[in-house]
This record gives sequence, structure tokens and C-alpha cells, in this order.
Amino acid sequence: MARDKWTWKAKDGTPGGLLYAPGNWGDLLKALWLTTFITWSREGLPDGIRHYVDPFAGAPDYPLGAGTKCGFLRGGLESFSYIDREYLRKGLWPSSAALFRSLSTAPMTVFDVDAERRERWRNFPGATVADAGDGWDVLQSGSPAGNDLYLVDPYDFLAQWRGKTEALLAKTAPCTLLLYVYNRSAKKAEHFREYRAFRGFLDGRTGGEYIFGRVGSDPFLPSSHHEMYLFPSPEARGSPVFALLAGSLERTTLQLDAVMRKLSVFGNQHRFF
Ligand SMILES: C[S@@+](CC[C@H](N)C(=O)[O-])C[C@H]1O[C@@H](n2cnc3c(N)ncnc32)[C@H](O)[C@@H]1O
Repeated sequence: MARDKWTWKAKDGTPGGLLYAPGNWGDLLKALWLTTFITWSREGLPDGIRHYVDPFAGAPDYPLGAGTKCGFLRGGLESFSYIDREYLRKGLWPSSAALFRSLSTAPMTVFDVDAERRERWRNFPGATVADAGDGWDVLQSGSPAGNDLYLVDPYDFLAQWRGKTEALLAKTAPCTLLLYVYNRSAKKAEHFREYRAFRGFLDGRTGGEYIFGRVGSDPFLPSSHHEMYLFPSPEARGSPVFALLAGSLERTTLQLDAVMRKLSVFGNQHRFF
């Protein structure tokens, strides 16, 4: 489907040079799924995660806007223990790879097409920057194994799903894959049709053997959704405690959703208290 290419870079003068707010609900959901999997893997995978690969890694961290910080506090999200407090204290939002590093010492390979962001990873402890020209090449040139974790989060995966999904699933079949999707179906019929086609493809291709969760884009009037998909490796799926993973992901996603719904249902009346 033809669509203008989206970019995170704002025109000159926008605070932080970004067109989105780091630490938004999608970032929270992604961090929640990533850290839930890391925690589960300590018991679920006898050797833990052996290698983390993030071919669309962004920057190591991002400035957290005052509004976003307020949102955390109002929503009671300060009690969500998965966010590394040190980053928040410094007014920063950690990337997924930085979160991974704060919870695991396993080798980590990152890449970003943006030279400035890529350069920042060169000074990040324990990160290896892949020698490639594109994140999709990093994926295709890797040799994923059972206890590896791949995170795929380019902007607007749905705009390119038809050309990418089959190869992505085939390549990452031996390992666990976490995929973030920004779902705009509620906005336009053409997005909805495309999303239905994507989900139909996934279900047909995997027999429905993936874990899925979503939250709204924002509490005010969600017109899109943040979605996470976890495609487990054969090792993860075969783990005697695999059911605990699905249960933890469900429980924590519902908690996040409950915080959003409260803000959505009652608006901002709590500002009086
Ligand atoms: C949503 S951000 C990544 C966030 C990061 N995965 C995290 O969870 O913290 C998407 C990043 O993908 C990068 N990107 C987009 N297309 C790419 C490509 N073809 N190859 C590598 N990086 C790409 C962008 O420059 C951007 O920094």
C-alpha cells in the first residue's frame, strides 16, 4: 500500500528533534513485554537468553518530556518496576536494548540506519554494532539460535508487512521474536483491510502460535493501537513453564490497560485532588 515514509526526525525547532514522545504507551507496552520475557527466561530457558539482536535499535536513550513524566505519575506507573529508575531520575527514557543491558549481561547486537544513533551505540557498554547498511540485512545475515531474542521495531511495520513478514518469520523461526506493530486500523477502512490481511497471514503462517497483546494509543480518544507479538522459539514453547510466560504477559498488559482506561473513563478530573 503506497504511503509516505514516516520519519522520527522533526523539522527544526521541535524540542528534542523528535516527532513522537519517548516513554509513550507503546514504549511502555514494549518495555513490559521485553522485560517480562527476560525475567521469565531465567526460569523458562535453562541457559537464559544467549544473544539479544535489535536491528532497528534507535538511540540508547531519549529525553523524557515533562508531560510524559507527569503521565507516568498520574497513571500510577511509578510502581511499574521494569523501568530502570536511574534513567527516569536523569529525565531519560531507556531504549529496549538499554533495558536489556540493565537486566542481562548476554551479548547484544544492535543496528540503526541513522548514523548519529548508530554512533551512540559504539560507546554503549556491551553493545556490538552490526556492520551492515540496513536493519533487514542484519536480520538476514544473522544465524538465530534457540535461546536468542530478536526485537523487530522499525517504524510502521504494517506499511511494509507484505514484503517483509514471510522472510522475517522464516529467518527467526529458531529463536524468539518480539515484534512491535503500530495499528492504525481505527482511522481508515484501507488500514483496517490491510491489518485484517496481516493478521490473517500471521494466523495462517503460524497456526496462531504466537502471543498477542495491545493497548490504545492514548487515553484521551484512542484512534490507533500499540501491539506486541511474541513468536516463541521451539525451546521457549517446549519449556515446562511456557504457560507462565503467556500468563505474565496477559496480566501485566491488562494492568497497563487498566491504568489507561481509568485515565480514559475519568478524564483528567483527578487534577483537583
Ligand atoms: C521505533 S525506533 C526503534 C526503537 C527501539 N527498537 C526500541 O525499542 O528502543 C525505529 C528505529 O528504526 C530505524 N530504522 C528505520 N528503518 C530502518 C532500516 N531499514 N534499518 C535500520 N534501522 C531502521 C529508525 O532510524 C529508528 O531509529
